[in-house]
Amino acid sequence: MIKRVAILANGGDVSGFNAVIRAIIKTAENNNIECLGFIDGYRGLLQNNFVKLGTSSNENAVGILPKGGSIIGSSTNANVFNYPVEENGQRVYKDLSDICVENIKKDEIDCLFTLGGDGTQKSARDLSLKGIHVIGVPKTIDNDVACTDITFGYNTAVSVAADAIDRLHTTGETHHRIMVLEVMGRYAGWIALESAIAGGADVALIPEIPYDIEKAASKIINRKNRGKEFSIVVVAEGAKPKDGDIIVKGTRNNGSGVDNTKLGGVGEQVAKQLEELTGLEARCTVLGYMQRGGSPTSFDRVLSTKYGAKAMELALEGNFNVLTVMKDGKLNSVSLEDVVGNNTKVGAVSGNTPESNLRKVTMEDDLVKTARNIGINLGD
Ligand code: F6P
Repeated sequence: MIKRVAILANGGDVSGFNAVIRAIIKTAENNNIECLGFIDGYRGLLQNNFVKLGTSSNENAVGILPKGGSIIGSSTNANVFNYPVEENGQRVYKDLSDICVENIKKDEIDCLFTLGGDGTQKSARDLSLKGIHVIGVPKTIDNDVACTDITFGYNTAVSVAADAIDRLHTTGETHHRIMVLEVMGRYAGWIALESAIAGGADVALIPEIPYDIEKAASKIINRKNRGKEFSIVVVAEGAKPKDGDIIVKGTRNNGSGVDNTKLGGVGEQVAKQLEELTGLEARCTVLGYMQRGGSPTSFDRVLSTKYGAKAMELALEGNFNVLTVMKDGKLNSVSLEDVVGNNTKVGAVSGNTPESNLRKVTMEDDLVKTARNIGINLGD
Protein backbone atom coordinates (compact mmCIF):
# COMPACT_ATOMS: atom_id res chain seq x y z
CA MET A 1 0.00 0.00 0.00
CA ILE A 2 1.61 3.25 -1.15
CA LYS A 3 1.10 6.26 1.13
CA ARG A 4 3.89 8.68 0.29
CA VAL A 5 6.03 9.19 -2.81
CA ALA A 6 8.81 11.63 -3.71
CA ILE A 7 10.07 13.20 -6.91
CA LEU A 8 13.51 14.37 -7.85
CA ALA A 9 14.46 16.21 -11.04
CA ASN A 10 18.08 15.74 -12.04
CA GLY A 11 20.52 16.75 -14.76
CA GLY A 12 20.30 19.68 -17.19
CA ASP A 13 16.87 21.28 -17.18
CA VAL A 14 14.38 20.80 -20.00
CA SER A 15 10.97 22.20 -20.88
CA GLY A 16 8.55 19.63 -19.51
CA PHE A 17 10.02 18.98 -16.05
CA ASN A 18 7.10 20.75 -14.39
CA ALA A 19 4.52 19.02 -16.58
CA VAL A 20 5.82 15.63 -15.40
CA ILE A 21 5.91 16.80 -11.76
CA ARG A 22 2.32 18.06 -12.05
CA ALA A 23 1.06 14.79 -13.59
CA ILE A 24 2.68 12.72 -10.82
CA ILE A 25 1.20 14.96 -8.11
CA LYS A 26 -2.28 14.98 -9.66
CA THR A 27 -2.36 11.20 -10.08
CA ALA A 28 -1.06 10.82 -6.51
CA GLU A 29 -3.69 13.22 -5.15
CA ASN A 30 -6.44 11.34 -6.96
CA ASN A 31 -5.33 8.24 -5.07
CA ASN A 32 -4.90 9.96 -1.67
CA ILE A 33 -1.13 9.65 -1.80
CA GLU A 34 1.16 12.31 -0.38
CA CYS A 35 3.81 13.67 -2.72
CA LEU A 36 7.17 15.21 -1.75
CA GLY A 37 9.80 16.86 -3.93
CA PHE A 38 13.53 16.76 -3.20
CA ILE A 39 15.21 20.09 -3.95
CA ASP A 40 17.97 20.11 -6.60
CA GLY A 41 17.85 16.47 -7.57
CA TYR A 42 20.02 13.89 -5.88
CA ARG A 43 21.67 16.64 -3.81
CA GLY A 44 18.32 17.26 -2.08
CA LEU A 45 17.97 13.54 -1.42
CA LEU A 46 21.44 13.46 0.11
CA GLN A 47 20.71 16.49 2.31
CA ASN A 48 17.14 15.33 3.01
CA ASN A 49 15.96 18.69 1.72
CA PHE A 50 12.40 18.37 0.47
CA VAL A 51 9.04 20.14 0.20
CA LYS A 52 5.52 18.79 0.20
CA LEU A 53 3.96 19.20 -3.24
CA GLY A 54 0.29 19.91 -3.96
CA THR A 55 -2.00 21.38 -6.59
CA SER A 56 -4.67 23.02 -4.40
CA SER A 57 -5.04 26.76 -4.89
CA ASN A 58 -2.68 27.77 -2.07
CA GLU A 59 -0.06 25.11 -2.80
CA ASN A 60 3.23 25.17 -4.71
CA ALA A 61 2.37 23.18 -7.86
CA VAL A 62 -0.40 25.39 -9.23
CA GLY A 63 -0.21 26.66 -12.82
CA ILE A 64 3.07 24.90 -13.59
CA LEU A 65 2.12 22.98 -16.77
CA PRO A 66 3.45 25.62 -19.21
CA LYS A 67 6.38 26.77 -17.06
CA GLY A 68 9.98 26.09 -18.06
CA GLY A 69 12.58 24.97 -15.53
CA SER A 70 11.73 22.85 -12.50
CA ILE A 71 9.88 24.05 -9.40
CA ILE A 72 12.03 21.68 -7.34
CA GLY A 73 15.30 22.60 -9.05
CA SER A 74 17.75 20.15 -10.60
CA SER A 75 21.41 19.28 -10.22
CA THR A 76 23.98 18.43 -12.89
CA ASN A 77 26.74 17.26 -10.56
CA ALA A 78 25.26 14.99 -7.93
CA ASN A 79 26.30 11.37 -8.41
CA VAL A 80 25.65 10.21 -4.83
CA PHE A 81 27.72 7.07 -5.47
CA ASN A 82 30.76 9.20 -6.29
CA TYR A 83 30.13 12.52 -4.60
CA PRO A 84 32.74 15.29 -4.32
CA VAL A 85 33.56 16.27 -0.72
CA GLU A 86 36.31 18.46 0.74
CA GLU A 87 38.62 16.65 3.15
CA ASN A 88 41.74 18.34 4.59
CA GLY A 89 41.54 20.98 1.85
CA GLN A 90 41.40 18.35 -0.87
CA ARG A 91 38.52 17.16 -3.01
CA VAL A 92 37.84 13.46 -2.66
CA TYR A 93 35.00 11.37 -4.05
CA LYS A 94 32.85 9.26 -1.73
CA ASP A 95 29.97 6.85 -1.99
CA LEU A 96 27.25 8.62 0.04
CA SER A 97 24.36 6.57 -1.29
CA ASP A 98 23.68 4.95 2.10
CA ILE A 99 22.72 8.38 3.46
CA CYS A 100 20.13 8.63 0.67
CA VAL A 101 18.79 5.18 1.53
CA GLU A 102 18.49 6.18 5.22
CA ASN A 103 16.69 9.41 4.28
CA ILE A 104 14.16 7.56 2.12
CA LYS A 105 13.47 5.11 4.95
CA LYS A 106 13.29 7.87 7.59
CA ASP A 107 10.89 9.91 5.45
CA GLU A 108 8.77 6.78 4.84
CA ILE A 109 8.87 7.22 1.08
CA ASP A 110 7.34 4.23 -0.70
CA CYS A 111 8.56 5.16 -4.18
CA LEU A 112 11.08 7.64 -5.56
CA PHE A 113 10.49 9.08 -9.05
CA THR A 114 13.73 10.00 -10.79
CA LEU A 115 13.27 12.46 -13.65
CA GLY A 116 16.45 12.52 -15.67
CA GLY A 117 18.74 11.26 -18.39
CA ASP A 118 21.17 8.34 -18.59
CA GLY A 119 23.25 9.39 -15.56
CA THR A 120 20.18 9.93 -13.40
CA GLN A 121 18.69 6.56 -14.34
CA LYS A 122 22.04 4.86 -13.75
CA SER A 123 22.00 6.16 -10.15
CA ALA A 124 18.32 5.18 -9.85
CA ARG A 125 19.18 1.63 -10.85
CA ASP A 126 22.10 1.63 -8.39
CA LEU A 127 19.71 2.77 -5.60
CA SER A 128 17.25 0.04 -6.58
CA LEU A 129 20.01 -2.51 -5.83
CA LYS A 130 20.01 -1.13 -2.27
CA GLY A 131 16.33 -1.97 -1.88
CA ILE A 132 14.82 1.42 -2.77
CA HIS A 133 11.67 1.46 -4.92
CA VAL A 134 12.40 3.74 -7.86
CA ILE A 135 10.61 4.61 -11.08
CA GLY A 136 12.46 6.60 -13.71
CA VAL A 137 11.05 9.08 -16.21
CA PRO A 138 13.27 9.71 -19.27
CA LYS A 139 14.28 13.35 -19.61
CA THR A 140 16.78 15.14 -21.81
CA ILE A 141 16.86 17.44 -24.80
CA ASP A 142 19.52 15.09 -26.22
CA ASN A 143 16.99 12.20 -26.69
CA ASP A 144 19.72 9.68 -25.94
CA VAL A 145 18.19 7.57 -23.15
CA ALA A 146 18.21 3.86 -24.00
CA CYS A 147 15.03 1.79 -24.43
CA THR A 148 12.69 4.68 -25.28
CA ASP A 149 11.93 6.32 -28.61
CA ILE A 150 11.63 9.75 -27.05
CA THR A 151 12.53 11.70 -23.93
CA PHE A 152 10.57 14.68 -22.66
CA GLY A 153 12.14 18.04 -23.48
CA TYR A 154 13.49 16.87 -26.82
CA ASN A 155 10.57 18.04 -28.95
CA THR A 156 10.77 21.55 -27.49
CA ALA A 157 14.52 21.69 -28.18
CA VAL A 158 13.96 20.62 -31.80
CA SER A 159 11.25 23.19 -32.23
CA VAL A 160 13.49 25.99 -30.85
CA ALA A 161 16.29 24.88 -33.22
CA ALA A 162 13.90 24.72 -36.19
CA ASP A 163 12.69 28.24 -35.41
CA ALA A 164 16.33 29.41 -35.28
CA ILE A 165 16.98 27.80 -38.69
CA ASP A 166 13.96 29.66 -40.15
CA ARG A 167 15.42 32.91 -38.91
CA LEU A 168 18.93 32.12 -40.18
CA HIS A 169 17.41 31.26 -43.55
CA THR A 170 16.20 34.79 -44.20
CA THR A 171 19.39 36.48 -43.04
CA GLY A 172 21.54 33.96 -44.96
CA GLU A 173 19.53 34.47 -48.13
CA THR A 174 19.72 38.25 -47.84
CA HIS A 175 23.50 38.36 -47.42
CA HIS A 176 24.43 35.33 -49.57
CA ARG A 177 26.08 33.66 -46.62
CA ILE A 178 26.55 30.20 -45.20
CA MET A 179 24.74 30.17 -41.85
CA VAL A 180 26.04 27.54 -39.43
CA LEU A 181 23.93 26.65 -36.41
CA GLU A 182 25.60 24.70 -33.58
CA VAL A 183 23.06 22.81 -31.50
CA MET A 184 23.32 20.70 -28.34
CA GLY A 185 22.91 16.94 -28.03
CA ARG A 186 26.19 15.76 -26.52
CA TYR A 187 27.24 12.49 -28.21
CA ALA A 188 23.99 12.03 -30.16
CA GLY A 189 22.84 13.85 -33.27
CA TRP A 190 19.08 13.73 -32.75
CA ILE A 191 18.49 17.47 -32.28
CA ALA A 192 20.74 18.38 -35.22
CA LEU A 193 19.23 15.86 -37.59
CA GLU A 194 15.58 16.41 -36.77
CA SER A 195 15.83 20.22 -36.68
CA ALA A 196 17.76 20.17 -39.98
CA ILE A 197 14.82 18.35 -41.58
CA ALA A 198 12.26 20.56 -39.85
CA GLY A 199 14.08 23.74 -40.90
CA GLY A 200 15.05 22.69 -44.43
CA ALA A 201 18.82 22.80 -43.85
CA ASP A 202 21.29 21.79 -46.56
CA VAL A 203 23.92 20.10 -44.41
CA ALA A 204 23.64 18.33 -41.05
CA LEU A 205 26.75 17.11 -39.22
CA ILE A 206 26.16 14.64 -36.40
CA PRO A 207 28.47 12.72 -34.04
CA GLU A 208 27.39 9.36 -35.47
CA ILE A 209 28.79 10.24 -38.93
CA PRO A 210 32.32 11.66 -38.69
CA TYR A 211 32.31 14.31 -41.39
CA ASP A 212 34.44 15.11 -44.42
CA ILE A 213 34.30 18.90 -44.68
CA GLU A 214 35.03 18.73 -48.42
CA LYS A 215 31.78 16.77 -48.93
CA ALA A 216 29.80 19.42 -47.09
CA ALA A 217 31.56 22.12 -49.11
CA SER A 218 30.69 20.38 -52.43
CA LYS A 219 27.02 20.44 -51.49
CA ILE A 220 27.25 24.18 -50.90
CA ILE A 221 29.22 24.79 -54.12
CA ASN A 222 26.61 22.81 -56.09
CA ARG A 223 23.90 24.99 -54.64
CA LYS A 224 25.89 28.10 -55.54
CA ASN A 225 26.29 26.82 -59.11
CA ARG A 226 22.50 26.46 -59.25
CA GLY A 227 22.09 30.11 -58.22
CA LYS A 228 21.54 29.49 -54.50
CA GLU A 229 24.19 31.63 -52.92
CA PHE A 230 23.35 30.79 -49.35
CA SER A 231 23.25 27.58 -47.36
CA ILE A 232 22.15 26.41 -43.94
CA VAL A 233 24.42 24.03 -42.01
CA VAL A 234 23.35 22.44 -38.70
CA VAL A 235 26.19 21.06 -36.59
CA ALA A 236 25.75 18.95 -33.46
CA GLU A 237 28.10 20.04 -30.65
CA GLY A 238 29.48 16.48 -30.57
CA ALA A 239 30.17 16.26 -34.33
CA LYS A 240 33.74 15.43 -35.27
CA PRO A 241 35.75 15.32 -38.50
CA LYS A 242 36.60 11.88 -39.82
CA ASP A 243 40.26 12.40 -39.06
CA GLY A 244 39.81 14.33 -35.83
CA ASP A 245 38.06 14.43 -32.49
CA ILE A 246 35.20 16.13 -30.65
CA ILE A 247 35.99 19.72 -29.69
CA VAL A 248 36.03 20.18 -25.94
CA LYS A 249 35.46 23.74 -24.77
CA GLY A 250 36.24 23.17 -21.13
CA THR A 251 35.18 21.44 -17.96
CA ARG A 252 31.68 21.43 -16.50
CA ASN A 253 30.87 21.89 -12.81
CA ASN A 254 34.54 22.57 -11.88
CA GLY A 255 35.31 19.01 -12.81
CA SER A 256 33.01 17.55 -10.17
CA GLY A 257 30.15 16.48 -12.41
CA VAL A 258 29.04 13.14 -13.72
CA ASP A 259 30.20 13.77 -17.30
CA ASN A 260 32.52 16.76 -16.99
CA THR A 261 33.19 17.53 -20.61
CA LYS A 262 31.87 20.86 -21.84
CA LEU A 263 31.38 20.52 -25.58
CA GLY A 264 31.35 23.41 -28.05
CA GLY A 265 33.31 25.15 -30.78
CA VAL A 266 32.77 22.83 -33.73
CA GLY A 267 30.34 25.29 -35.35
CA GLU A 268 32.97 28.04 -35.58
CA GLN A 269 35.51 25.59 -36.97
CA VAL A 270 33.09 24.30 -39.61
CA ALA A 271 32.11 27.88 -40.60
CA LYS A 272 35.78 28.86 -41.05
CA GLN A 273 36.58 25.79 -43.14
CA LEU A 274 33.48 26.17 -45.32
CA GLU A 275 34.31 29.84 -45.94
CA GLU A 276 37.80 28.84 -47.16
CA LEU A 277 36.53 25.97 -49.31
CA THR A 278 33.54 27.68 -50.93
CA GLY A 279 34.55 31.34 -51.18
CA LEU A 280 31.24 32.29 -49.53
CA GLU A 281 31.09 34.23 -46.29
CA ALA A 282 30.07 32.10 -43.31
CA ARG A 283 28.67 32.96 -39.88
CA CYS A 284 28.15 30.70 -36.88
CA THR A 285 25.38 30.89 -34.28
CA VAL A 286 25.56 28.78 -31.13
CA LEU A 287 22.01 28.16 -29.92
CA GLY A 288 22.97 27.01 -26.42
CA TYR A 289 20.57 27.11 -23.49
CA MET A 290 17.70 28.54 -25.55
CA GLN A 291 17.04 24.87 -26.35
CA ARG A 292 16.36 24.02 -22.72
CA GLY A 293 14.49 27.05 -21.42
CA GLY A 294 10.95 28.32 -21.68
CA SER A 295 7.56 26.80 -22.17
CA PRO A 296 7.24 23.23 -23.51
CA THR A 297 5.56 22.57 -26.86
CA SER A 298 2.09 21.00 -26.69
CA PHE A 299 3.73 17.74 -27.75
CA ASP A 300 6.07 17.86 -24.75
CA ARG A 301 3.25 18.87 -22.40
CA VAL A 302 1.26 15.81 -23.44
CA LEU A 303 4.27 13.46 -23.45
CA SER A 304 5.36 14.71 -20.01
CA THR A 305 1.83 14.31 -18.65
CA LYS A 306 1.62 10.77 -20.05
CA TYR A 307 4.99 9.89 -18.52
CA GLY A 308 4.14 11.39 -15.12
CA ALA A 309 0.70 9.75 -14.86
CA LYS A 310 2.12 6.43 -16.05
CA ALA A 311 4.93 6.58 -13.47
CA MET A 312 2.39 7.00 -10.64
CA GLU A 313 0.22 4.24 -12.15
CA LEU A 314 3.23 1.88 -12.10
CA ALA A 315 3.85 2.75 -8.44
CA LEU A 316 0.21 1.96 -7.60
CA GLU A 317 0.64 -1.41 -9.31
CA GLY A 318 3.82 -2.05 -7.32
CA ASN A 319 5.80 -2.18 -10.53
CA PHE A 320 9.11 -0.68 -9.35
CA ASN A 321 12.67 -0.31 -10.66
CA VAL A 322 11.51 0.50 -14.15
CA LEU A 323 11.63 3.42 -16.58
CA THR A 324 8.52 4.76 -18.29
CA VAL A 325 9.09 4.62 -22.04
CA MET A 326 7.43 5.32 -25.34
CA LYS A 327 7.93 2.48 -27.81
CA ASP A 328 6.33 2.47 -31.27
CA GLY A 329 3.86 5.09 -30.11
CA LYS A 330 2.81 3.12 -27.01
CA LEU A 331 3.35 4.12 -23.40
CA ASN A 332 5.12 1.33 -21.54
CA SER A 333 7.86 0.54 -19.02
CA VAL A 334 11.16 -1.33 -19.10
CA SER A 335 13.45 -2.58 -16.37
CA LEU A 336 16.19 -0.18 -15.25
CA GLU A 337 18.61 -3.07 -15.79
CA ASP A 338 17.82 -2.89 -19.51
CA VAL A 339 18.31 0.86 -19.45
CA VAL A 340 21.83 0.65 -17.99
CA GLY A 341 22.75 -2.24 -20.31
CA ASN A 342 26.41 -3.18 -19.87
CA ASN A 343 27.10 -0.21 -17.61
CA THR A 344 26.46 -2.44 -14.59
CA LYS A 345 29.18 -1.35 -12.13
CA VAL A 346 27.55 0.46 -9.20
CA GLY A 347 28.63 4.12 -9.08
CA ALA A 348 30.14 4.12 -12.57
CA VAL A 349 29.45 7.28 -14.51
CA SER A 350 27.44 7.37 -17.66
CA GLY A 351 28.30 9.58 -20.63
CA ASN A 352 30.86 9.11 -23.37
CA THR A 353 32.29 5.85 -22.07
CA PRO A 354 32.37 2.53 -23.95
CA GLU A 355 30.05 1.01 -21.30
CA SER A 356 27.41 3.75 -21.47
CA ASN A 357 24.16 2.65 -22.99
CA LEU A 358 23.35 5.85 -24.87
CA ARG A 359 20.78 5.76 -27.64
CA LYS A 360 22.43 7.23 -30.70
CA VAL A 361 21.27 7.83 -34.24
CA THR A 362 21.63 4.71 -36.39
CA MET A 363 22.03 4.63 -40.15
CA GLU A 364 18.74 2.70 -40.39
CA ASP A 365 16.78 5.46 -38.68
CA ASP A 366 14.02 7.05 -40.76
CA LEU A 367 15.49 10.49 -40.06
CA VAL A 368 18.79 9.51 -41.71
CA LYS A 369 17.02 7.96 -44.68
CA THR A 370 14.70 10.94 -45.07
CA ALA A 371 17.58 13.40 -44.85
CA ARG A 372 19.51 11.51 -47.53
CA ASN A 373 16.45 11.15 -49.78
CA ILE A 374 15.84 14.88 -49.89
CA GLY A 375 19.54 15.68 -50.40
CA ILE A 376 20.59 16.95 -46.99
CA ASN A 377 24.33 16.35 -46.92
CA LEU A 378 25.47 14.48 -43.82
CA GLY A 379 29.15 15.17 -44.34
CA ASP A 380 29.80 11.81 -45.99
O1 F6P B 1 22.44 17.03 -21.64
C1 F6P B 1 21.80 18.23 -21.91
C2 F6P B 1 22.78 19.29 -22.31
O2 F6P B 1 22.07 20.47 -22.58
C3 F6P B 1 23.69 18.91 -23.46
O3 F6P B 1 23.04 18.98 -24.70
C4 F6P B 1 24.83 19.86 -23.26
O4 F6P B 1 26.04 19.37 -23.79
C5 F6P B 1 24.95 19.92 -21.77
O5 F6P B 1 23.69 19.56 -21.25
C6 F6P B 1 25.35 21.26 -21.20
O6 F6P B 1 25.47 21.10 -19.83
P1 F6P B 1 25.69 22.25 -18.77
O7 F6P B 1 24.33 22.64 -18.26
O8 F6P B 1 26.49 21.60 -17.69
O9 F6P B 1 26.40 23.38 -19.43
